[in-house]
Amino acid sequence: MIIYYDTIAEQYKKVTELPCRLIEEYTYFNLLGDLTGKSILDLACGEGLYSRKFLHKGAKKIVGVDISAKMIELAKQQESQKQEDIEYIVGDVMELGKIGSFDLVVASYLLNYARTKEELLKMCQTVYTNLKPGGRFLTINNNLQQCPESYGICEKYGYTKSISETLQEGTPITLTFRIPGDNKTVSFDNYYLSKETYEWAFQVAGFEEIHLHQPIVFSEGIQEFDLEFWQDFLEYAPIVCIECLK
Ligand SMILES: C[S@@+](CC[C@H](N)C(=O)[O-])C[C@H]1O[C@@H](n2cnc3c(N)ncnc32)[C@H](O)[C@@H]1O
Repeated sequence: MIIYYDTIAEQYKKVTELPCRLIEEYTYFNLLGDLTGKSILDLACGEGLYSRKFLHKGAKKIVGVDISAKMIELAKQQESQKQEDIEYIVGDVMELGKIGSFDLVVASYLLNYARTKEELLKMCQTVYTNLKPGGRFLTINNNLQQCPESYGICEKYGYTKSISETLQEGTPITLTFRIPGDNKTVSFDNYYLSKETYEWAFQVAGFEEIHLHQPIVFSEGIQEFDLEFWQDFLEYAPIVCIECLK
């Protein structure tokens, strides 16, 4: 099987400095709260960008899982340079099963790769089974509920979203990111599933509570750009954070 991220790993690693990533990171960490002493399972960890940040923010144990061996290779390279203590595993979240009992399971851009409700449910079951009782799942997702008429606003934040058919269960949504300092772009597909399908999957997996959180603006971001720059991102919310409690 060809793992798509193996072919774009180096390019994807470079998109971390785009404006969209700044507001995403701020929103994510604001919701994560104090990570001191926490055990964290980072699903779809990619090249470990967030796994390393969790460690720097005081997490005690971090395991990162990604289906792409190339992404994990990049993560391990960066870990060995800094002598950090993060465990990385190459694996498909849908097939992972129980590997531990974590305070927090997180995922930045995993669920939007589920093409069907069955795939989404498998991902949610993996999340649930790896959480301690009372544990929390926090994920950043492409906001699949964003109205396609507003996809154009993403451009000033560094990327485009497009579809070639009306949104229905499983419709691919193509994301194309500008690579900073380069004239190139990197593209990949996410898949549309309805809000009802997401709620169904969280509930069937066993989650007690589900909360959606919109992106929030941040003072450093306002210093760098200005409040008006972020207005469309706040209004049309191209990303969403989802929090589920076990
Ligand atoms: C957009 S990247 C995000 C990477 C990282 N979380 C970040 O925010 O930088 C999506 C990642 O999801 C991984 N992925 C997609 N489907 C997966 C699956 N079924 N199991 C594990 N990883 C998966 C890809 O290999 C890729 O590294």
